[in-house]
Amino acid sequence: MTQRITVIRGDGIGPDIVDATIQVLEKLGCDFAYDYADAGLMALENHGELLPQETLDLIAKNKVTLKGPLTTPVGEGFTSINVSLRKQFNLYANVRPVRSFKGTKARYEDIDIITIRENTEGMYSGLGQVVSPDGSEAEAMSKITRKGAEQIVRFAYELARREGRKKVTAVHKANILKSTSGLFLKVAREIGEQYPDIESAEMIVDNTCMQLVMNPHQFDVMVTTNLFGDILSDLCAGLVGGLGMAPGANIGQDCAIFEAVHGSAPDIAGKNLANPTSVMLAAAQMLDYLEMGDKAEKLRNALREVIETGDRTTRDLGGSHGTTEFTQAVLDRV
Ligand code: NAI
Ligand code: MG
Repeated sequence: MTQRITVIRGDGIGPDIVDATIQVLEKLGCDFAYDYADAGLMALENHGELLPQETLDLIAKNKVTLKGPLTTPVGEGFTSINVSLRKQFNLYANVRPVRSFKGTKARYEDIDIITIRENTEGMYSGLGQVVSPDGSEAEAMSKITRKGAEQIVRFAYELARREGRKKVTAVHKANILKSTSGLFLKVAREIGEQYPDIESAEMIVDNTCMQLVMNPHQFDVMVTTNLFGDILSDLCAGLVGGLGMAPGANIGQDCAIFEAVHGSAPDIAGKNLANPTSVMLAAAQMLDYLEMGDKAEKLRNALREVIETGDRTTRDLGGSHGTTEFTQAVLDRV
């Protein structure tokens, strides 16, 4: 049966790297039909709002979405579209794997880390945002629930088990953020005990940053709260050659959105410079989710071959080619 996919091309470099990815999915012979929906700046121009109802309806209807990065205008009272989408569809788990490819400018080989980021609570809950009338004070609320923490930690251990992973590290700041991070850590310890087949570790977030840079091979699966996960996953992207290499899946009970970890990269937009690997790897996550693992592997292998042989790679990877040439190199291999 044809699977319908909602596609949000996104802002900045989004359309280039999403279109490139659809070309590759087509070449792979996926039985997909695509419903295009607007969000972000394009939606603001076409519909007068960042996240039109039509788009929300399509995401709900098809249940699987491939999404380019969206620009959220700074200030002006706009809430982040990504935060809204994740909350609206209760996409509680953000799965961000990074894996080394040889031939990048990365300082390590053999990195293989999955960050599991809680995606709806914590500092990004959007609760209690107040700025005093004279602008001299600002507040925001961080909220962690036992249910939310249990759900994400369990998700991490189940993923570890399913994918033959050996270790789950809970990353926290319970020494200072005693209530919120404290609850997260308490729950992580409880759940960890239920998985004796998997090694459980815990680490304070600032030390984790240092350890990731100095000795990243000690990490396997990391599970953490929203803000820490956002930051750590960009750090992890830096370990494997940059943001152009890092995909992310936002997963809920019956709905999922697959995207790059990075943003709309306005500095390189419209210049045929963007590395589409991030969205292509997100598409591979989508294929896994749809139980089309053989096609996912084919796509990953094609990317690996292009990058490792340096055949038409983009500048961020040390090459001298553009998005279109890179995409052709991938198409030649799938
Ligand atoms: P960014 O992630 O767009 O860019 C950071 C740096 O990485 C830039 O130098 C950029 O050129 C480079 N980069 C990113 N993706 C690349 C790729 N595929 N190939 C080569 N180089 C790449 O972060 P920035 O500039 O802080 O944010 C720009 C906009 O993106 C903001 O409006 C922000 O709100 C939005 N954003 C959206 C996200 C999403 O839709 N999921 C996530 C993060 C930011
Ligand atoms: Mg981020």
